Parts: sequence; structure tokens; C-alpha cells
Amino acid sequence: MKIGIVFGTNRKAATAEIVAWMSEHLGSLGHEVICEKPADFDRFDCDLYILGTAVYMFSAKRTGLPAFIREHSGRIGAGPTALFIVCGSDPLDAGEKGLKRVMKRLFLNREKYMASVARLLPTAPIGTAFFKGYQEPDDRAKVDFESQKDRVTEWCDSLLAATAPAGA
Ligand SMILES: Cc1cc2nc3c(=O)[nH]c(=O)nc-3n(C[C@H](O)[C@H](O)[C@H](O)COP(=O)(O)O)c2cc1C
Repeated sequence: MKIGIVFGTNRKAATAEIVAWMSEHLGSLGHEVICEKPADFDRFDCDLYILGTAVYMFSAKRTGLPAFIREHSGRIGAGPTALFIVCGSDPLDAGEKGLKRVMKRLFLNREKYMASVARLLPTAPIGTAFFKGYQEPDDRAKVDFESQKDRVTEWCDSLLAATAPAGA
């Protein structure tokens, strides 16, 4: 398959690393993988589009992925899409109380980040995922960033399974 990975990030850090894992894995399975930032992506003949974005200052807007989807939704909507978010926020914790809980719901809410991008897609993505990023290089080890690699490749496998024609 031809797989386009369009990834929004303003740094050479977590999102770029995750995309490199994806590309290496999908390439090793014999797929043609094109990885580009939103401003550079121009291959609209893919069998699957994996769209990913980092989050900065409570929003994915600054990476250019939302603008890319708005501009090209007609073309990427022709194929299946999948969406991943790279951020620092943890899942909301039902046990958390008070102001911390309110602040997290309003601002550090990764489901909201996901919804704000997913709603721009012309059809529902075949898969979504959250991956943990790191703010400073020192944080990479603290959040055990590398341990996500299997989850990243397993997510890619699930997308391939969902994209494969029936009986394949
Ligand atoms: C300037 C800045 C602002 C950030 N703001 C948020 C935020 O509002 N919410 C969040 O969950 N993570 C936030 N983060 C964490 C990033 O999502 C995380 O560092 C991620 O790895 C960024 O992607 P990148 O490594 O590809 O740049 C922020 C990070 C930076 C550097």
C-alpha cells in the first residue's frame, strides 16, 4: 500500500520520533511510506493517510495540521484516515478533585485536542491514538518515551488490518 503520514510538529522531537518508528515499521512490511510536514505534503494518491499532530499551548493549531485538513479534506477523505495526538496531558483522572480537575478538563484535556482535529475530517478516522510527548530532552527518559514504541507499531498494524480489503 501507499501510506501518507502527515505530521504536524514545530520541533525535531517526540512527534518526529514517533513518525520515524511508524515509517520504519510500515516500510519493513513492504509498504511505500511518504512522511511529510503539512506544508510539504502533496501526495494525494495514498491508500491510507495517517495524520498526526503535537499539541502546544492547549491547541493543535500551531502545527498546521488542522489547516492542512481543512484545505485538503476532499482529497484525503477519498481514502481511509487515522489520527494521532502527541501531547503532555495524561488521561483525565476520575478521582481527581477540585481546581486541578477543572483546569485539566478545560485545558489539559487530550480528548478535546483529539475532537478538535477529528471533527475536521470528512469521514470518521479508522483509528485514533494518543502518544505521550516530552517537553525537554531530559523529560524523554522521565516519561519513559521509548516504551511506547510497541504501542505505536501495534497501532499501525491495527490500521493495516482495518484497511485491508475483505478476504486479504
Ligand atoms: C511550548 C509548549 C507548549 C505545550 N503545551 C501543551 C499543552 O497545552 N497541552 C499538552 O498536553 N501538552 C503540551 N506540551 C507538551 C507537548 O505536547 C509535548 O512536548 C510534545 O512532545 C510536543 O511535540 P514535539 O515533541 O513533536 O514538539 C507543550 C510543549 C511545549 C514545548
